[in-house]
Amino acid sequence: MPGTCVIGLQWGDEAKGKLVDILTGEHDFVVRYQGGANAGHTVVSGGETWKLSLIPSGILRDGVQCVVTGGVVLDPASAIREIDMLESRGVTVTGKLLLSDRTHVVFPWHVAEDRLLDGSLSGGGAIGTTGRGIGPCYRDKVGRSLAIRLGDLYRDDFRQRIDHVVDFKNRLLTSWQPSGGTAPEPLDAKAIHTQYRDYAERLRPFVADTTAVLLDAVENGRRVLFEGAQGALLDIDHGTFPFVTSSNSSGVGVASGSGVPGRWIDRVIGVVKAYSTRVGGGPLPTEQDNAIGLHLRERGREYGTVTMRPRRCGWFDAVAARYTARLSGVDELAVMLLDVLGGLDELKICSAYEIDGRRVTQFPSQIGDLERAVPVYETLPGWSDDLTGARRSADLPSAAHGYLAAISDFLGRPVSIVSVGPDREQTIFCDRAQGTSWQRPQPTGSAPA
Ligand code: IMP
Repeated sequence: MPGTCVIGLQWGDEAKGKLVDILTGEHDFVVRYQGGANAGHTVVSGGETWKLSLIPSGILRDGVQCVVTGGVVLDPASAIREIDMLESRGVTVTGKLLLSDRTHVVFPWHVAEDRLLDGSLSGGGAIGTTGRGIGPCYRDKVGRSLAIRLGDLYRDDFRQRIDHVVDFKNRLLTSWQPSGGTAPEPLDAKAIHTQYRDYAERLRPFVADTTAVLLDAVENGRRVLFEGAQGALLDIDHGTFPFVTSSNSSGVGVASGSGVPGRWIDRVIGVVKAYSTRVGGGPLPTEQDNAIGLHLRERGREYGTVTMRPRRCGWFDAVAARYTARLSGVDELAVMLLDVLGGLDELKICSAYEIDGRRVTQFPSQIGDLERAVPVYETLPGWSDDLTGARRSADLPSAAHGYLAAISDFLGRPVSIVSVGPDREQTIFCDRAQGTSWQRPQPTGSAPA
């Protein structure tokens, strides 16, 4: 079967972009199937750094077709900015990029709603969204009556559609008086229509029925790489709701977002960082708001690609990652940023939670339980070696072997790829079955934090 899928198993930012870039060479198509310009991936290639949000990083390679499917919400301005950036740096985009005509389009009212609504969770909390209008655009998609898809931008009644939606949105937005703030200015339907008509013309060469293209591709044995955005713990249905994104960012989203049935996928790679990070609100049970967290943030350059917000950092949470590995049908693991752990005397992996005095290894379905969860850690020896030069598993110190073996054991899957730096070359590939051969030392302790 011709499909490979790359899924982040944590709260996003697992360095999936690097892995996708590496795997692209073995595929004919690279597909984004959910999320939007809230995602950010950084690829370092040939000494150059590329930051992409909507366009699959496969665009950097020749001979690969990049596809943005209908499960994505598309901000045309972001897409055009990325296309222009790529072309100005000598990357050919025309003929290599397809955008689904089913993709729902992000409009200024979505961004306005995102900014107005975040912070109004019942109880007063904030999701801490990226402010890119993602949630409101998905809300309109599900609501249907105010939704506009990319294909609609080319219809004769596009202007009437904009008038209808803007009239409704203006009544909604201008009546919305945030406490202590002023209601937003009314939207100008004519100006938005002109702007989006121009965007539509610019994007016209890329628009296609991508579901048909991809079904033809898999049925003809072409190799397709599905690139998940965000991480499985941010999945709208199965993540840490309500502190999630608005799409199915776990493996369950591949088929619905792309239109390609799961039966065509035979390799699911779960990507984890060697530790945990989270940006925005919501529980992070293993968070280290101390010198350890600082070490991880500074060594791992843990600042958001899209919003530049500092990421919250903590120990690896095996309870959470085991749950999402099962949820996403993961066959094998890629452990990224292992080098960042260098210099810490001991390392901890959360192997269970204590919730109200009960020890649990099942990831809680209710946010309140997760908020009260106290991690139970297994302590492992650290290493002082600089791993960034390691190219084979034999180059890693025994403590790093032990750490990888522990992750593999907890998640019940082999670790087949290890990343020790941002460059393509800083990657160790192991035989898929070799995960079991990482040597696991005896734990030095196990206690609630
Ligand atoms: P939204 O996707 O902008 O609605 O944000 C919802 C939550 O998902 C917030 O906590 C964001 O910080 C988080 N989020 C969205 N996209 C990403 C991502 O690509 N990496 C990490 N977190 C993300």
